[in-house]
Amino acid sequence: MSLIRLDKFISERTEYSRSTVKELARKGKINVDGTPVKASDTKIDPDKQAVTVDGRSIGAQKFRYILLNKPQGYVCSTDDKDGETVMSLVPPEMRTKNMFPAGRLDKDSLGALLITDDGALAHRMLSPKSHIPKIYIVKLDRSFKNEYINKFNESLLLDNGEQCLPARVRPLENSSKLAFVELHEGKYHQIKRMFAAVGNHVEVLMRVSIGGLVLPEKLGKGQCMELLHKDVESLFQNLDFDDFCSRFSPVFSAFHLNN
Ligand code: URA
Repeated sequence: MSLIRLDKFISERTEYSRSTVKELARKGKINVDGTPVKASDTKIDPDKQAVTVDGRSIGAQKFRYILLNKPQGYVCSTDDKDGETVMSLVPPEMRTKNMFPAGRLDKDSLGALLITDDGALAHRMLSPKSHIPKIYIVKLDRSFKNEYINKFNESLLLDNGEQCLPARVRPLENSSKLAFVELHEGKYHQIKRMFAAVGNHVEVLMRVSIGGLVLPEKLGKGQCMELLHKDVESLFQNLDFDDFCSRFSPVFSAFHLNN
């Protein structure tokens, strides 16, 4: 990349306007190669120089990919007409102007949500043809029944006659009311409606993986992390569901889905 003004570079990759960048630089909050730069019109080479705002690095990459551990009570939208949005949880130095949640979780659902400004990637990920598997953990109102395993696998019919693609469900070890579910599609309230169709009720629902990307245990509720290139690629890979269930049962059975 050729030389670019520091304020232009930062304002294109964050929510900060050029005037805010100027102010932050004046306060010594912007570093280039570890040294505070007070003049925001300084020219830099983002390919060769490391820029940080408030200690957080601003990369030279074209698009940004954020993984949010969504808490309950936030809507997956950029428009706050239905309540506070997940966008408000992304710190300004991680946020760019064109970012949006790539995918949906209900307002009362938790877990892994990708937020990006890469429209083409989001389109590829969300296309019904892509069938990217997503794994959820649910806390049920009543005990899990083994008959759910076949019912989910045999294209369950929902209340309105809609047919689901085959899905997989497994109870967690040592727990009668926790289960993992793997879906290859995303109908409206799908998991809640699937359990309603078999006579149960979902009390809490959390997405724990998208493709091959597992929500890291260390990412607390409401926290965001920037994804590296290899993590973004893993969104298009698959996990072995049975292997996932045995590996992550101990992690999640100790885990309280209560919020
Ligand atoms: N299924 C649901 O019912 N809700 C979600 O948020 C995701 C999947």
